[in-house]
Amino acid sequence: MKINVIVAYANNLVIGNDNKIPWYYKEDLEYFKTITTTTRKEAHKNAIIMGYNTWLSIGKRLKHRINIVITTKTDLNNDRDLYFVNSLGDAIDVCKNGHTKIIENIFIIGGEAIYNYFFRSYFYTMLDKIYITKINKDFNGNKHFLTIDDKFYYTQISTSYEHPELEYRVLQYNRNYKNPDNEYIDTVKNIIEKNGLFCLRFEFDLSTSKFPLNTVIFKQSDINGLLNELIEILNNINYNNNPLKMDDCLYYFNVDNENNISCLIQQEDADIVSDVPKNIFYGGILLHFLSIISKKKRNKLIYTSVNSFIKERNLEIANEIIWSTPKPQPILEIDDKDQAKYTDFLLSDIHFIGID
Ligand SMILES: NC(=O)c1ccc[n+]([C@@H]2O[C@H](COP(=O)([O-])OP(=O)(O)OC[C@H]3O[C@@H](n4cnc5c(N)ncnc54)[C@H](OP(=O)(O)O)[C@@H]3O)[C@@H](O)[C@H]2O)c1
Repeated sequence: MKINVIVAYANNLVIGNDNKIPWYYKEDLEYFKTITTTTRKEAHKNAIIMGYNTWLSIGKRLKHRINIVITTKTDLNNDRDLYFVNSLGDAIDVCKNGHTKIIENIFIIGGEAIYNYFFRSYFYTMLDKIYITKINKDFNGNKHFLTIDDKFYYTQISTSYEHPELEYRVLQYNRNYKNPDNEYIDTVKNIIEKNGLFCLRFEFDLSTSKFPLNTVIFKQSDINGLLNELIEILNNINYNNNPLKMDDCLYYFNVDNENNISCLIQQEDADIVSDVPKNIFYGGILLHFLSIISKKKRNKLIYTSVNSFIKERNLEIANEIIWSTPKPQPILEIDDKDQAKYTDFLLSDIHFIGID
């Protein structure tokens, strides 16, 4: 039995207004139905857990699922596949013991009070996935989804073919997941405290599609500018050298005996705010490019600098960084069109998915 969360939220995290959902997308309702009714075994069922206001807002029992409503009221009568309970613990109990069918998946379906209740409860540790429909628009509303912490990574992101405003995201919860941006934030703190750092090193695994974009520094709107800058640099240098020299960084590439390609970035003096995240971004993109050009598997990206510091003009930003919350790492997909050299890659071949 797995516990999952399912939510549709707008750009500004709005989920509801006046006890209604402030949008209507047929495609998303179908997605919700598919996700919450699908079981691996036909004889099994899924359960949906909701708050009393959401129950009122839906106005009926949802078919082919066990409906569980959390409320403080004690005078409501259970019905077929419909249970009123007084706590999340009682709701989970119904799924474990109170039903003749085996419950395969539990979905926490909202609203705001129930999402908050769940994420602050002990049951949060039993979470498997969060299914998010992100609506790429702002809506007015009085109910919001909470800002989730950094214990998640994307397993899947897809845009709706039927509706360009909808993006489906599936996030995996993993208690041991370490978002690399946390290490970055700690490093910034360290550099502020010690007024500099000797010998900095970050290491990233690039064997999956997760990309080590620094989500504390960069937003969706920065990506094209960064990519254009990189393409411009590549157009103006001899990039066949190993190490490749760009600005004041050296990029070494190495292929191991299993055909894995890795990149080591070396810099002597680096500003942790304006240099390090950008150079890691460049190294990551170059490694993706080179793996396509050379048909080798991506492996590690390592960044090192001898002296790290914060320039006077970046001190204010650094002091903000240490209070920020990292977001899940985005996914990078680059169209493989048999590109033969770095400058064959076009901006339109490069797709970052899952950045806000
Ligand atoms: N976009 C989405 O994915 C999505 C999904 C679901 C809902 N929504 C929207 O979210 C809004 C509703 O959210 P909401 O926060 O107002 O309501 P809600 O979470 O649906 O329900 C709140 C109610 O649940 C009960 N409850 C909450 N915590 C409890 C606890 N610890 N113990 C016992 N009972 C508890 C209380 O019911 P009693 O007052 O009866 O005690 C409380 O008033 C609506 O606008 C809805 O359309 C959006």
